[in-house]
Amino acid sequence: MSELQGKRAFVTGSGAGIGKAIAALFAERGAQVVVSDLNADSAKQSAEEIGAAGVANCDVTDEAQVQTAVQQAVDLLGGLDVLVNNAGIEVSSPLLQQSTESFDKIFAVNVRGTFVTMKAATPHLVASKGNIVNIASIAGIGGSPLLGSYCATKAAVIQLTRVAAVEMRPTGVRVNAVCPGFADTAMVDRLKPDFEAATQIPFGDLVAMKQGRLGTPQDIAEVAAFLASDRAAWITGSHYVLDGGLTASLV
Ligand SMILES: NC(=O)c1ccc[n+]([C@@H]2O[C@H](COP(=O)([O-])OP(=O)(O)OC[C@H]3O[C@@H](n4cnc5c(N)ncnc54)[C@H](O)[C@@H]3O)[C@@H](O)[C@H]2O)c1
Repeated sequence: MSELQGKRAFVTGSGAGIGKAIAALFAERGAQVVVSDLNADSAKQSAEEIGAAGVANCDVTDEAQVQTAVQQAVDLLGGLDVLVNNAGIEVSSPLLQQSTESFDKIFAVNVRGTFVTMKAATPHLVASKGNIVNIASIAGIGGSPLLGSYCATKAAVIQLTRVAAVEMRPTGVRVNAVCPGFADTAMVDRLKPDFEAATQIPFGDLVAMKQGRLGTPQDIAEVAAFLASDRAAWITGSHYVLDGGLTASLV
């Protein structure tokens, strides 16, 4: 399948996990991809493995770095058709015991990072009538113990997606979000012990009961690739849930 043939894409946080899987699938489907991450070593390795067009690293909390990296990607690719805002962090803490500094940090990465990257990419996406895929989460739809601030950031990402989509509709730029359940990455590995302690249920049993199985980064990449492609030409302002039925379930 070559549904992304000719597309030029910039993927944040693509040194590992879901972002790496998205960058890899985009490249496999014909896109030219620029990898970007906070961690330069993992970005370099990811780009080599994927056969990416290049690397343009940034910390998404730093607007100047983001502007420079987006411009580097545009220079490498000769323009930009797709931005994937994937970089994100988690914090595991009872909400009202979380420090204000840590609350500010997660908003800086997950919300402000998405905002400043969308802003930096917008002129280039308007020029190409391109699109944006924001990686939100089912945590932006329902509440979860230990993930209070994370849930709030992902709800904000869904709302940024909706408003940007509506405002940019006249330009032809589409903006959508993906909302995964628990997927098999380092982020979930870090969360497991706290969830097991809080629920007294082995994490694997919890996942089997609520989602059937753990999602794979490839499950999420498939939906991101579809949304980035011309097959999704009439889809904008949407958020796609991929969670093995977790949010659909009352028991
Ligand atoms: N894993 C899941 O179950 C899951 C579920 C729903 C949503 N998500 C979302 O998917 C995205 C990717 O998550 P993941 O599970 O692959 O996480 P991960 O921790 O495995 O990988 C995240 C990547 O983002 C990079 N990153 C972190 N902070 C950054 C910053 N400030 N600037 C640039 N890059 C930064 C990291 O270096 C890393 O390479 C996140 O937005 C996350 O919230 C994950």
